[in-house]
Amino acid sequence: MKLTIIGTGYVGLVTGTCFAEVGHRVICVDNDAAKVKMLQSGGIPIYEPGLEELVKKNVAAGRLSFSNSTAEGVANSDVVFIAVPTPPQADGSVDMSFIERVARDIAGAMTEYKIIVDKSTVPVQTGEKVAETIKRYCKNQVECDVVSNPEFLREGFAVEDLMKPDRIVVGVRTQRPVSVMKEIYAPFNAPIIVTDINSAELIKHASNSFLALKISYINAVSIICEATGANVQEVANGMGMDERIGRRFLNASLGFGGSCFPKDLSAFIKIAEELRYDFGLLKEVQRINASQMDRFLKKIVDTLWVLKGKTIGVLGLAFKQNTDDVRTSPAIELCQRLQKEGAALRVHDPKAMEKAKPLLPGVTCIDDMNDVAEGCDALVIATEWEEFKKLDLERARKHLSHPILFDGRNLFDPKEMEKLGFIYKSIGR
Ligand code: UDX
Repeated sequence: MKLTIIGTGYVGLVTGTCFAEVGHRVICVDNDAAKVKMLQSGGIPIYEPGLEELVKKNVAAGRLSFSNSTAEGVANSDVVFIAVPTPPQADGSVDMSFIERVARDIAGAMTEYKIIVDKSTVPVQTGEKVAETIKRYCKNQVECDVVSNPEFLREGFAVEDLMKPDRIVVGVRTQRPVSVMKEIYAPFNAPIIVTDINSAELIKHASNSFLALKISYINAVSIICEATGANVQEVANGMGMDERIGRRFLNASLGFGGSCFPKDLSAFIKIAEELRYDFGLLKEVQRINASQMDRFLKKIVDTLWVLKGKTIGVLGLAFKQNTDDVRTSPAIELCQRLQKEGAALRVHDPKAMEKAKPLLPGVTCIDDMNDVAEGCDALVIATEWEEFKKLDLERARKHLSHPILFDGRNLFDPKEMEKLGFIYKSIGR
């Protein structure tokens, strides 16, 4: 099939590439000329495991190309996907101006029937607005169908999530676009659920909010564990064996971050408010998440007493493992708060150092994780990178003025750490 994806961010670029990988002809459009140029000359603007190879392979096969012209994309495809940002505004609501702009651009370029698919995470009832806008701005008065097709990929595992999805959600107003959507997704061998547009849009916000709720739930349980000497990982393992609950997203931490959960929670609360429902449950999810960071910082301050004049080593800057994304990263917030307390920081992240630098003026970036502890008063783990589990603990212990390690991601075994002579403080254990 001939497809166009508008927006080459995480969702757009990975989706377009995976569509090309299964045999579709894909044009990825972006209005950022520099980004398009970079992609056209073989560069990749983000770090995502496996993506670079797939982009190269599909460009070489002639199935994937890049353009900064929406009109070109619309003219050369049957289906146009919208994957542009829906950033948060100060009051928690979503800025819909990018979606609206793209809808007008598509409308202006349409000369025959098209299927317009929204992939961006949007408030319920956006599909209706997009359809109205296209109708209003389409001079040629041709027909179109608007479809909602939310994306559930996780950064760091985006290619894997896209190639092997749990489910494909297709929200439609009429049955007309259904067979085409099924044809696009047939190679992915995943269950396809067809709903009305509003339900499809809600599935996305309800899913992300529920996952955030799961994390806040286990983080709240971790407080009870700390107060009673229980171990939150054992509790999560025991809970997770109940198939109705499941073990995933029950890892207690210094809090969740990223470009999705915080934004989607605020948006869902705001949507509910506009519909005159006070979604207090989700407000509590936010409150627990914020207090988790406060509690972790307090642990550090209570142990080290005065941070002014001390040096702290921080492992991890990205908001999670396998990504260079530092947007709304708990690790960055932690660093900024440690700096505010007067600590000097030596930091390391396997992929996110470049993107983090402008946010953390004054920190010392260290290339090798095993060198971070040199001259530090304590070490902190802020991101759950697998490779941090291979940290040379013996070397770190020798480098530190006192062997103190604060683990915001529960990567090590407390008993082992004690045996190695560390003062080891983690979450809920
Ligand atoms: C999320 C959703 O998982 C995905 O389906 C949606 O499409 C986009 O938003 P993403 O933000 O990429 O994906 O990352 P995710 O793996 O969900 O992690 C989000 C945050 O929660 C990270 O900061 C992570 O460290 C944290 N987290 C995750 C925990 O603290 N504990 C957990 O058990 C899981």
